[in-house]
Amino acid sequence: MNGSMKHEDEGGVQYGSPPHLKKGGNYIMEGMEAVKSTFLIFSMQEEVGSLARALKVLESHGINLLHIESRPSQRGSNYEFVVECCNSSGGNIEAGVEELKSMCKYFQIISRAHRGNKETVPWFPRRIKELDRFANQILSYGNELDSDHPGFTDPVYRARRQQFADIAYHYRHGEKIPRVEYTKSEIETWGAVFSKLTKLYKQHACAEHNKVFPLLIENCGYREDNIPQLQDVSDFLKDCTGFTLRPVAGLLSSRDFLAGLAFRVFHSTQYIRHPSNPMYTPEPDVCHELLGHVPLFADPNFAQFSQEIGLASLGAPDDDIEKLATCYWFTVEFGVCRQNGELKAYGAGLLSSFGELQHAMSDTPKFLPFDPAVTGITKYPITEYQPLYYVAESFEDSQQKMIEFAATIVRPFSVRYNPYTQSIETLDTKLQIQKLLRNIGHDMKLFSEAFFKIDPPECIM
Ligand SMILES: [Fe+2]
Repeated sequence: MNGSMKHEDEGGVQYGSPPHLKKGGNYIMEGMEAVKSTFLIFSMQEEVGSLARALKVLESHGINLLHIESRPSQRGSNYEFVVECCNSSGGNIEAGVEELKSMCKYFQIISRAHRGNKETVPWFPRRIKELDRFANQILSYGNELDSDHPGFTDPVYRARRQQFADIAYHYRHGEKIPRVEYTKSEIETWGAVFSKLTKLYKQHACAEHNKVFPLLIENCGYREDNIPQLQDVSDFLKDCTGFTLRPVAGLLSSRDFLAGLAFRVFHSTQYIRHPSNPMYTPEPDVCHELLGHVPLFADPNFAQFSQEIGLASLGAPDDDIEKLATCYWFTVEFGVCRQNGELKAYGAGLLSSFGELQHAMSDTPKFLPFDPAVTGITKYPITEYQPLYYVAESFEDSQQKMIEFAATIVRPFSVRYNPYTQSIETLDTKLQIQKLLRNIGHDMKLFSEAFFKIDPPECIM
């Protein structure tokens, strides 16, 4: 199944594919991943020349090195080394790894080529800058349209898609997202979607969405006659929850897309659907991202919940990635929640789809409580409205469930995001856990101090 969508009634966003299918709609998909390099992370006895000895071992096995770095260790040694080995240089990585391992106090292999090797952890970015590597990992470039895409035979639209794909492909972490001057036709398409959807939000969108939306109008230029710029929206989100947007040139694998969430980074499209039918798109576009996703990422609890899915995915085995991507589908994309006894939409696929939003809020579909262990293995259709939605009691409740589910994923370490360094810490030694406890102790002290300042106990009064 190529995942192209035929379903064309009043629905807004229609997804061309579930996370594990190629081509079409959603850009969280399973697919081929480049297997260019293997990362070795290790620490040795503190001796002069230890790194030189390690490199000599790798050289003796004909292994070509792409990158070497040393950094202060979090595991008790002074330093740990990260060496990136080229998989295609003809050397014997397996033998080199075995010999080097015997010389090390700590040794970890991280690689895209992890399948079939239980000792190897699937590669994941450790620093926010490493998300730049995804630009070369896309499964298809944004200008490749399926034959039944509304813009397939439109050379002007295809050329425009190429421009957007090029912006995203060349984007690097830390840069401003280039501003786009949208055409009159593009603004009209946005306006048609904007005016139709905003009429439904008051009744059907969750409270968090309705709370944030006026702020987006005020701060980011959300208007019928204006398509907001990704950089302005990203700046707004950063102030609210630390989330930022990154333009994406094409389809990412589920693993890469979810990894972005661990850093509170959302990969966003910047192009708009074809003008021939503003109420239909076979893939996410800027209407879907800005109207569906963005308002929720400004909510602290939802942001935390989304990051939790991302953190759970780092270094997880393939079958767990599929479960997490399915949880993402049923929550961030198609989630509904109960508020004051009524069902409300918080999933972006609903909040950006005129037809499906009404369908989801009717008596037609089935509703079940969100439970990651069950939700994560639920099959779902991709060419029609969902027959089943999972209901969140609250984002805090869903987050707690995701944390419990993440604990069942088999990984040799736990992960923590360090917002100061914008990096992922893997926790696998007592020393690191002691350090973490000290931080928690400090936070608890701050908490009790602040609590007593606000609400002093009667005995002190
Ligand atoms: Fe989406």
